[in-house]
Amino acid sequence: MSDKLVTITVDDKEISAPAGSYLLPVCLENDIYIPNLCYLEGMETPPASCRLCLVEIEGRPGPQVSCRCLIEDGMVVKTNSEEILKLRQIAFRLLVSTNDGSCKSCISNRSCELQQIAKFLHQPLRTKRLRHIDRAYPPLIDDHPYLVYEPKKCLLCGRCVYVCNNIEKGYKLSFAQRGMDTIVSFFGSDLDPASAFCKECFACTEVCPVGSLSSKEKWKAFVDGLK
Ligand code: SF4
Ligand code: SF4
Ligand code: FES
Repeated sequence: MSDKLVTITVDDKEISAPAGSYLLPVCLENDIYIPNLCYLEGMETPPASCRLCLVEIEGRPGPQVSCRCLIEDGMVVKTNSEEILKLRQIAFRLLVSTNDGSCKSCISNRSCELQQIAKFLHQPLRTKRLRHIDRAYPPLIDDHPYLVYEPKKCLLCGRCVYVCNNIEKGYKLSFAQRGMDTIVSFFGSDLDPASAFCKECFACTEVCPVGSLSSKEKWKAFVDGLK
């Protein structure tokens, strides 16, 4: 990013922002909401995996992922066309095709970003338009001393892995397995003293957009409250 400002037009609104900024945060900072799940502020190379942040950019063929698109002077962007809405809805259905639909008993109920995006896109959280895929994992993985992970809620957005390795430098999280079997995995998930780092951190739980990754203490208090 540089100090030089460039001007772009988004949905007929003129916006000035530093050259080299990604389009998604520029829109969000200027009150133009674009759904997003895998982007986090400061990411040098966003993974662009959720495909929810698609927009149209004049002169470019096909939809563009705004979280990976650098702004250029004179750029003209549309975030709300019929076609873009349809593509985002398809991306959303794919994301929730593994969702276990258990919002009522979820620690993130009512503060969940997936619920907010479902509302914005007018989509149910359990789609009937795609076959539900039941990922072959237990509902809860709790062998970490301080964290619990609910794989069936995980969107594989990668935010937790990013903050752990790039911000906190805890180097405790990674993706394991492949394809539909992909899962977030802990290094030193047994009672390894290295996991003590997590005791003071919990950054991964704060960026999880859903209720998949939680502090064990908060999760236990929540479950006790359900009884
Ligand atoms: S608590 Fe911190 S160090 Fe531990 S896994 Fe989460 S982000 Fe990494
Ligand atoms: S645990 Fe949460 S933050 Fe991590 S990949 Fe899954 S949904 Fe994303
Ligand atoms: S936020 Fe852009 S692809 Fe996920």
